[in-house]
Amino acid sequence: MLRELKVTGRASSKSWSYTIEDSDLDKSLLDYLSACGLPIASSCSGVGKCKKCAFNGCLLSCVEKVSDWLGKEIYFDYL
Ligand code: FES
Repeated sequence: MLRELKVTGRASSKSWSYTIEDSDLDKSLLDYLSACGLPIASSCSGVGKCKKCAFNGCLLSCVEKVSDWLGKEIYFDYL
């Protein structure tokens, strides 16, 4: 099964897709996407306080896991 994460940036109208390895499944979206080079905003180091890492409106990428978002729409307004 192909495990893919797709991300859209609404500000830039760009999209990115990533093939997910087993070792990535338990990572937060913030950690994974930041490691891939996307500039996901954060000023609380991923502890869920600053809300700057929000995606799909108001979900927190530092809380949500990669495994729960495979094949689903993910967008960041400011990317
Ligand atoms: S990084 Fe601060 S709330 Fe997610």
